Amino acid sequence: MYEEMDNEHIREFQRQLIEWYNHNKRELPWRKNQDPYRVWVSEIMLQQTKVDTVIPYYNQFMEWFPDPETLAYAEEEKVMKAWEGLGYYSRVRNLQTAVKEVVEEYGGEVPREREHFSSLKGVGPYTAGAVLSIAYEKPEPAVDGNVMRVFSRIFNISDDIGKAKTRKRFESIIASFLEGIRPSEFNQAVMELGALVCTPKSPGCLLCPVQEFCEARRQGTAEELPVKEKKKPPKAKDMAAVVLKNQRGETLIHQRGDTGLLARLWEFPNTEVPPKEKREEVLKHHLAEEYGLDIEIGQPLQSVQHVFSHLIWNITVYEGRIHNTRREAENTRWVTMKEAEEYAFPVSHQKILDAQKEKEVR
Ligand code: ADE
Repeated sequence: MYEEMDNEHIREFQRQLIEWYNHNKRELPWRKNQDPYRVWVSEIMLQQTKVDTVIPYYNQFMEWFPDPETLAYAEEEKVMKAWEGLGYYSRVRNLQTAVKEVVEEYGGEVPREREHFSSLKGVGPYTAGAVLSIAYEKPEPAVDGNVMRVFSRIFNISDDIGKAKTRKRFESIIASFLEGIRPSEFNQAVMELGALVCTPKSPGCLLCPVQEFCEARRQGTAEELPVKEKKKPPKAKDMAAVVLKNQRGETLIHQRGDTGLLARLWEFPNTEVPPKEKREEVLKHHLAEEYGLDIEIGQPLQSVQHVFSHLIWNITVYEGRIHNTRREAENTRWVTMKEAEEYAFPVSHQKILDAQKEKEVR
């Protein structure tokens, strides 16, 4: 197994990579300074989300919550609203919980010790390494999928990068690259190389500043690496949702539970339905059971599809009228379209909301 690089080669690798980084790095809003709170927020947003998508959200978030104190004491609804559309919403709930702990237990200073920082909610090995190295110049590896792609090619390693053991192997390899340089520069240089040159498909090996060190390039295996075991394809679920109006023209929305998919986001009442027949009956029954509402289902209004990593929702949206209210339902509100803007909805339900708004304008 080729995974030895002597110190001299490591120094040369560092030098060429960092020089390339300093000439080619993108100006990104979280690179303006080394404020640990700003770095932390960026790293949480960048998990599972592309840089281009993150930038506008990041700027808005920093405007609304410029420091740990502001985020710690902000209303959860506003925090969720700032994240609306980014997905993986537990990231932001955990971030707020963690930041509260920083304010209450650490006087508002993001802890510098891995042991302390890692104990915070939502801070895994990658986030800890990234924040401690980028903000505090600690020689900590920050190993995510991009970094594993780069180093699996450099050392021609074909271990499955979905496994925790593989991540640990890369952490120990990278530890030997973190001496004698600024860890913030080195780690970000590797991330930048992964984003701009050492890309998943058609890597730009000819432009690579460390091509001479790359074993996969020598062996012609770059395009086959990294190895990642295939996930199961997402399962399709048929859903029905209802846009239910009262006499005042307000619409019923419901807040999802505290745990699970899209926890605590708002939605139109909905339920899983069988693939073909009886959808209306099942939806009607759901409204009666869950909300104590007897309703009449009208026309289908639209179909909405949303693809999650593990699941696909195919939602048929109906209009509905109330016959009878038997009780006050929990976690629900009647809102105007204007008021609905204050609530955070998952993308699929934002589409329903947008269609309704358009209808009201016409
Ligand atoms: N991906 C993860 N962290 C990043 C960072 N700090 N800059 C650019 N891309 C990243």
